[in-house]
Amino acid sequence: MEGGLTKPRGYQVTRPCAFILACLFLIVIATALLLMYLLAPCPCARSAGSSYSRLSRKSNLYVRLPTSVVPHAYNLKLIPFLQQGNFNFSGNVDITINVTLATYNITLHSADLTILKTSVRRVVEENAVMDEDSPDFQIPIRKTEFDLKREFYVIHLNRLLEPGQYKVNIEFTGILNDALQGFYRSSYVNNNVTWWIATTQFQSTDARRAFPCFDEPALKAKFTIHIGRPSNMKAISNMPKEGESTPVEGMRDYMWDHFKESVPMSTYLVAFTVSDFEHWSDRSFKVWARSQAIDQAKYALKIGPKILKHFEEYFGIAYPLPKMDMIALPDFAAGAMENWGLITYRESTMLFQDGVSASRHKQRVASVVAHELAHQWFGNLVTPSWWSDLWLNEGFATYIESLGVEVVEPSWRTGDQFVVRELQNVLEQDAYKSSHPVSAPVSHPNEIDEIFDSISYGKGASIIRMMDHFLTTPVFKRGLTNYLNSRKFQSATQDDLWQALTDQAHADNALDPEITVKQIMDTWTLKTGFPVVTVTRDYDRGSATISQKRFQYMYPTETRASNWWIPLSYTSQDRADFTTTKPSHWLKAQGEITIENVNAYPSQWVIFNINETGFYRVNYDERNWQLIIAQLRDPDRFLNIGELNRAQLIDDSLQLARAGQLNYSVALNLTTYLAEEVSYLPWETAFPGLGFLNTMLKKMPIYDKFKSYYLHLIFKLYQETGFIDRHTDEQLLIYKRVEVLRTACDLGHEDCVKNAVLQFQHWRSSPNPDKNNPVSPNLKSTIYCTALREGGQAEWDFAWERYLNANVGSEKQLILQALGCTRETWILSRYLHRAITEGSGIRKQDTSTVFSTVSNNIIGRPLAFEFVRDNWQKIKEFLGPTVFTLSNIIRFTTNDMITEYELKQLKEFAISKGEEELGSATKAVDQSIEIVEANVHWMTNYYKDVERWLLTVKY
Ligand SMILES: *[C@@H]1O[C@H](CO)[C@@H](O)[C@H](O)[C@H]1NC(C)=O
Ligand SMILES: *[C@@H]1O[C@H](CO)[C@@H](O)[C@H](O)[C@H]1NC(C)=O
Ligand SMILES: *[C@@H]1O[C@H](CO)[C@@H](O)[C@H](O)[C@H]1NC(C)=O
Ligand SMILES: *[C@@H]1O[C@H](CO)[C@@H](O)[C@H](O)[C@H]1NC(C)=O
Ligand SMILES: [Zn+2]
Repeated sequence: MEGGLTKPRGYQVTRPCAFILACLFLIVIATALLLMYLLAPCPCARSAGSSYSRLSRKSNLYVRLPTSVVPHAYNLKLIPFLQQGNFNFSGNVDITINVTLATYNITLHSADLTILKTSVRRVVEENAVMDEDSPDFQIPIRKTEFDLKREFYVIHLNRLLEPGQYKVNIEFTGILNDALQGFYRSSYVNNNVTWWIATTQFQSTDARRAFPCFDEPALKAKFTIHIGRPSNMKAISNMPKEGESTPVEGMRDYMWDHFKESVPMSTYLVAFTVSDFEHWSDRSFKVWARSQAIDQAKYALKIGPKILKHFEEYFGIAYPLPKMDMIALPDFAAGAMENWGLITYRESTMLFQDGVSASRHKQRVASVVAHELAHQWFGNLVTPSWWSDLWLNEGFATYIESLGVEVVEPSWRTGDQFVVRELQNVLEQDAYKSSHPVSAPVSHPNEIDEIFDSISYGKGASIIRMMDHFLTTPVFKRGLTNYLNSRKFQSATQDDLWQALTDQAHADNALDPEITVKQIMDTWTLKTGFPVVTVTRDYDRGSATISQKRFQYMYPTETRASNWWIPLSYTSQDRADFTTTKPSHWLKAQGEITIENVNAYPSQWVIFNINETGFYRVNYDERNWQLIIAQLRDPDRFLNIGELNRAQLIDDSLQLARAGQLNYSVALNLTTYLAEEVSYLPWETAFPGLGFLNTMLKKMPIYDKFKSYYLHLIFKLYQETGFIDRHTDEQLLIYKRVEVLRTACDLGHEDCVKNAVLQFQHWRSSPNPDKNNPVSPNLKSTIYCTALREGGQAEWDFAWERYLNANVGSEKQLILQALGCTRETWILSRYLHRAITEGSGIRKQDTSTVFSTVSNNIIGRPLAFEFVRDNWQKIKEFLGPTVFTLSNIIRFTTNDMITEYELKQLKEFAISKGEEELGSATKAVDQSIEIVEANVHWMTNYYKDVERWLLTVKY
C-alpha cells in the first residue's frame, strides 16, 4: 500500500441510520435469487448504543484464528447492487478447507456481514459413490455464532471433524459502504448524472467485510471469483476473465463475469471493481479510468510495463500473473493498493495531465506505480507471515520504488532523492521516545493500522538501503532472489530473509563468517530509535575514537547496555572519495573502537557515513567541524565534498544542535555556505531544516533578522532558477525553482509576491478559467497560495469554484491545499466546516488535507486545533473511526505548537476526551504531546543561542 497524506485503515464506518435501514431492507439473493426482506436482528451490528466500539489498546485479546483448519481454495460469487439508495451486495462463498487437526468447530473471519445460510460437507474422491444426504457427506451443524470482538464467525459441528478436506458454503449479504474499506462504493458526476462504482480495499483486515474468509496473510489460497454486474458495466479482478459472461438468473440487466483461478495468495490482496470505466492497454498491461480522465492515464501506461519488466530482471523472477490492470478511483483512502494483478489508485496518484499537473506530480505517479509494482514480488509473491513484519513489505517497496523510477526517468536521480526525502525525514520522526521498532508486535486490527507509518515505510526502506550498501549490491540481489524463490507463494518472516542474505554474504565473502545478517539487523529492527555516532580525533596520533548512543531530541543522555551494529565508511580531505560506501569498519553493539590511522593531517577534515548510507547521524569534535566548515565556505572547493554528504552535513549539524548536542553557532555557521550552493540535494535538505527554525521563530521578535538571513541564502539560487518555468527544464531545476519561489513568497519577498498575485489575476480574468489557465503547472502551488494569502473572499470563492469544476485529480489537490492559505479567519472556519460536511464537494479521502493546509497557516493553526477540540465527536462521526485520517488530523493540527500555553491546551484536550473518546487517535495524541513538549523545550533552551547568532552574523 502507498500512503500519502491520508493513509487508510480502520473499520466499517456506515453511519448508524443507514446501517439500520440497510439491515431491515437488505435485498437478499437466495440461491434462486429471490427477493426477500430480512427482519431478523442484524448479527453484524456492533455493540448497541454507540456507532462503533473499540477494544482498549491495552487489551490482551488473542485475535488469531485456530490453526486446526486452513483454507485451500475459495469459489466466490458476489453481486453488488449499484442503484442509488440500495447499496447492498449479496454473495456466496464455497471454501475448500483442509482440517489438519481434529476439531469441533470451523472458525473464520466475518465482519458486518449478514449470514443467511451455512453448510459443511466432506469432499469425496472423484469416483467414490456417495449418497448426498448421508451424514458422511453433509456435516450437521450444531450452531453458529459471532465473536464480535475478534470478528470471528464460528461454526460448531455436531461431531468431531476428522483431518481431511471439506467444503464450507456460506450465503451472505452486506452493505456496499461509503467508508472506503472492505467492499465499498465510489462515485463521480458527469453531465449532472452520478455514476456509481463498486470497488474493494482489503488491506489489512477488511476482506472479512466483503466475504467470510480466513483473513490472515499467511493463510494463502487459490481464488476463483465471479462477479455479477449491470450489463452496461465492466468487472475486473486479480485474474483475467475466463470464457463468456453469462446472464444472472432472475435479474434482467445483470451479467456474471467469471475469472480464472488465481495462484495461491493472501486474502488482503483480493480485489474486484465494477465500473463503467474505459481502458487503454499495452498488450496485457491495462490502465482504467472514467472516460473523461482516461487520457490522463497515458503516463502510467508508458512507464508501468517498463518498470514491471525492470523488476523481473532485478528480482530474477518472472511476473507470475498473465495480466496487470491498474485503475484510478475517485474515492480511495490510501494512495494506492498493490492487489495482485489489479492495482487500485486514487486518481491523483495514477493520473497525470501534461500542461495541467506539476512535474513534481509526475514523480509522485512514477513513484507510486513503481512502489505497487515492487509489491507484486515483495508482499504478493512472498508475504510476511504476520503483520508484525509489515515493514518488510513496505520498506522494500519504498526502497525499490526509487530504483525502479531511476530506470525510466534517470535524470530525476530518485536514488539520491531518497536520502533527503525519505531517510532524513524519518530520522526526524524516529528521534522521539514515542517512536516504535520497525518490527512491532501487533495483533488487533487497531494496532495493525497504526504501523502503516513512516517508521515502517521510511525507516524500513532506509535500513534495507543500508544492507544493500554494506553487503554490496550484487550480493544483496542474489540473496534476495534466493529468498523470494525459496518462499514463493508462501509466507516468510524477517529471519528467513536474514538467513538467505547471510548464506549469500558468506558464500561471496562479503561478511565475516563469524557474523550473521540477523545479528546486525536485529539491532535495527527490534529496537526503537537510531544512534548518533561520535567521532573524536586524536590529532597528534592521527587516530579517531568512535562511539555511539541513541539520538533523541529531549533525552540526549540516555545510555544503554546494548546498541546498534553500525557499518562505518569514511573519507578524508586528501582522498575525498565519496564513491566507496562499503564499510571499512564495524562499530559493534558493545563498546567503542579506535581507528588508528584516519589518513588525515591535523589540518584536514574527515567525514563519516559516505552518501549517508548508514541509518545514523555523525557528530565530530569541534575542531573537525571547523575544518569541514572551512572547506564548505571556500567557494572554489566546497564541491570536493560529495553532494549527498553536503546534504548530510547540513542535516546532521542542524539536528544535533536542535537536540543540544552541538552548539547552534557551529550548525548555523555551516549553513552560511549555502549562499554559494546551487545543487539540488543540499537545498532539498536545507529547506526543511531552515523551515523548522522558520516555524519556531515566526512569532518571535528576531524574525526579521531570520528572514533577511534566509533571503540572503537563497539569493543566488533565486537568480539561477528565475521566475520563468520552461518546458525544457530538467526536473531537478524545476524542483529548485518551485522550492525557492515558495520560500521567497512565504518570506514576503516583494517581487515574488507581486508576480504571484499578478499571475493569479490573469487566471481570474481568463474567459473560461476551467479550460484556460495561464499559470504554469509547476508554479501553481506557490501562485495559488500566495494570491489567496494576499487576497480575500473573491479570490477564495474563485478558487473554490475551480476546485469543484476541476477534472484532474492533481489540480483538485493543489487547489485544496491553497485554499488554506487565506488570512480571513471566517473563511478558514467555513473551509473546516465544509471538510466535514456531507455533499460539500470535499471527498472524505481529502478531509485531512484541509486540516493540514489550514494548520500550515500561522493564522489557521489555533483555529484548526480549536475546531478539532470543539467538534471532535462530529469529526469522528463524519469520518468513522478511520485510524489514519483521525491520527493525521491530530498531527497536522498540533505538531507546530510551540508555547507552554498551547501545550497545556493540548494536554487538557487529551485528558478531557480520554482514551475512550480519542479512540484510534490516542497514539497520535500521545506522540503529539511529546513533539510539542520538545518544541517548548527548544524554545526554553536554544532560542537565545539562535537569537544571539542572528544578531551578530555578518554577510
Ligand atoms: C490441502 O490438502 C490437499 C490434499 O492433501 C493438498 O494437496 C493441499 O496442498 C492442501 N492445501 C493446503 C493449503 O494446505
Ligand atoms: C474451536 O476449536 C479450536 C480447536 O480446534 C479451539 O481452540 C477453539 O477454542 C474452538 N472455538 C470455540 C469458539 O469453541
Ligand atoms: C445540472 O443541474 C443543475 C441544477 O439542477 C442545472 O442548473 C444545470 O443546468 C444542469 N447542467 C447540465 C449540463 O445539465
Ligand atoms: C554517492 O552519491 C553520489 C551522488 O552524490 C552518486 O553519484 C554516487 O553514485 C553514490 N555512490 C554510491 C556508491 O552509491
Ligand atoms: Zn506499499
